[in-house]
Amino acid sequence: MKHLIKIEDLTVKDINKIYDIAYAFEKGERKTDYSNKSICNMFFENSTRTKLSFEMAQTKINVKKFNFEAKVSSINKGENMYDTINNLSAIGMDAFVIRHTDDNLIEELSKEQYFKDVSFINAGSGKNAHPSQALLDFYTIKSHFKDFYNKTIVITGDITHSRVAKSNIALLKKFNMNIRCLAPNELTGEKIEGVQYYTSLKEAFDGADIVMALRIQKERFENETIDIKKYIENYQITKENLPKNAILMHPGPVNKDVEIEACLYDAPNSVILKQARNGVFVRMAILDIILGGIL
Ligand code: NCD
Repeated sequence: MKHLIKIEDLTVKDINKIYDIAYAFEKGERKTDYSNKSICNMFFENSTRTKLSFEMAQTKINVKKFNFEAKVSSINKGENMYDTINNLSAIGMDAFVIRHTDDNLIEELSKEQYFKDVSFINAGSGKNAHPSQALLDFYTIKSHFKDFYNKTIVITGDITHSRVAKSNIALLKKFNMNIRCLAPNELTGEKIEGVQYYTSLKEAFDGADIVMALRIQKERFENETIDIKKYIENYQITKENLPKNAILMHPGPVNKDVEIEACLYDAPNSVILKQARNGVFVRMAILDIILGGIL
């Protein structure tokens, strides 16, 4: 595993290896020293959790980290991404954690012969993929349910614009989960094989074990419009409609009282903050595997 670009590139064996290592980090049973390696974080989009979680993971595995400041970089003087990466690898970077608005740029960089000596880790590419988020989400599911096979998950919210939904679906399919997507037609996106689609919350939530809420990602809207009042009326997750034994997940940021009723954020069956916590261990494992050549 030289790069982490998308879930589709990983086998179940790879994912389980990531989880074994993440679990060892979580238990405090694994220590690493990558003080001879350097990672550069390049975030071209807003981020709270993912950026700080990668930074925390880097600190904990003892690798040298550098933050590329997109807003004050020479990208604003017209330097392109290829020349930027070329120069940063000449300076001595071994790996790049990149979040970008472009769906395909990170994958294209990883295939570039020029960059054969460096690794790329996708921290969110456009509307396309967010593999570390999906990996930490499923790690959270696995740690909650002893037997996760045949569990039913409902992914609900703005699926059209969600890289989190796409990466999660790719991963959940590998573990044979029952996957349901719930959204109004305008937020359903392209239908994916193996997923059941619902427009009725009542029907989708019937028998659900896991509910994963997503934010309405207005900043990614092109010509679409959405009536928020109507969305809240028909799709908001509330303490009344959330199935009693289901866990509630959300990648964050949460718009309280839009996609979920505010009181659910830290309700006993919410694992939202556990997701944030687990993200550090999973990202430590991803970086350990890539930097250490473990897979
Ligand atoms: C998500 C993202 O950026 O794709 N957040 C995250 O990484 N935890 C989801 C979102 O922006 O709504």
